Amino acid sequence: MAELNLNDIIHKVDELPALPQITYRVLKLTSDPKTSIAELANTIVKDQVLTAKVLRMANSVYYGYARRIYSISEALIILGFSTVRNLVLAASVYTVMDKELQGYFLPKGDLWKHCMSTALIARSLAKKVNYELPDQAFIAGLLHDIGKIVLNTYMKESFHSVIEKVNKENIPFMDAEQQILGFDHAIVGSRVAEKWNLPQELVEAIASHHSPSRAEINPKLTSLTHIADAASMAMGIGLGGDGMLYPFDGFATKQLNITEEIIEQTIGEIADSMIDAETIFVDD
Ligand SMILES: [Fe+2]
Ligand SMILES: [Fe+2]
Repeated sequence: MAELNLNDIIHKVDELPALPQITYRVLKLTSDPKTSIAELANTIVKDQVLTAKVLRMANSVYYGYARRIYSISEALIILGFSTVRNLVLAASVYTVMDKELQGYFLPKGDLWKHCMSTALIARSLAKKVNYELPDQAFIAGLLHDIGKIVLNTYMKESFHSVIEKVNKENIPFMDAEQQILGFDHAIVGSRVAEKWNLPQELVEAIASHHSPSRAEINPKLTSLTHIADAASMAMGIGLGGDGMLYPFDGFATKQLNITEEIIEQTIGEIADSMIDAETIFVDD
């Protein structure tokens, strides 16, 4: 196969997943403290499918409030801007992620399940370790493997060499990506996040989710993403051809001062939310 260059891939804009226009608008509005509830609600309700998904999620077991939330304005008042921004992002990336990834042996839906469970675990762990922005941890978890969508095409082309390497040398897909393509899904994912104009700490969390000790801007966020990813793998979600258990990096557990018991407990807690999440985003 011809030598691939990371920049070539990134410049092939067509192959990079794009978010719907409305999502960029919501991201922008929610990061501006001057935005009013009415302004944000009016933007979201322009998209009916998005509105329905956001309301379904807001009324799910996971967010489980005592009474039903009937409108986006209510969701904004009860759940707050950052949670609603999460829901919008979750609904938007669902469309991008709900694909079969042949290059990774992932049937349709598996990448989404893996990323959603990682997001739920990251948010829950963030709360347990008193990380001040649990919603940011949710986003990092949700997007951590986004690079796989871009690399899938190339992994498919190198399919045979990748499989051969993974089987013969008993290495994770991640290392096969590195050795065969010269870069991995983590770095490609961070370029996608940059293209989406996400904040630098999210870009870093995606770039370093397999090597948390490299994080400099926000090691805690990267550590949460790493642990949540490994925990999701331990649940057996979205393993694809990469079914080995990824160990928790010692740097990450130390950063967060977290024990395996807490991680296991969290895995148990999010199981119900996962079943819920799977039904919420599927397009009717
Ligand atoms: Fe990954
Ligand atoms: Fe992952």
